[in-house]
Amino acid sequence: MESHTPKIEIEGKIKADEPFEVKISVGPHPNTIQHSIRKIDVYFYEDGKAFNPIYLASIILTPVYTEPEISLKLKVSKSGTLYVLEYCNLHGIWEGRKGIRVE
Ligand SMILES: [Fe+2]
Repeated sequence: MESHTPKIEIEGKIKADEPFEVKISVGPHPNTIQHSIRKIDVYFYEDGKAFNPIYLASIILTPVYTEPEISLKLKVSKSGTLYVLEYCNLHGIWEGRKGIRVE
């Protein structure tokens, strides 16, 4: 079964200003020249910030050779929400989100 919504996984607790790892993946999804995940963008909506979101990262993926699975190390000082957008060349943009709670 084909899936587009980005999955966002974080292990353990998040502490203010301490790096933590986020794993982002899409799928199962075809990875062919004709049909693949081409791009992943990551943003953070910080609670209480006047202007959101904060742009964090992008990755451009080449069909066949690269799978839509990435790891990032992030560091935040406040809680908020991670937003991940992924682009499939046939099915458009899909959004995943995950709350980040700073302990
Ligand atoms: Fe697709």
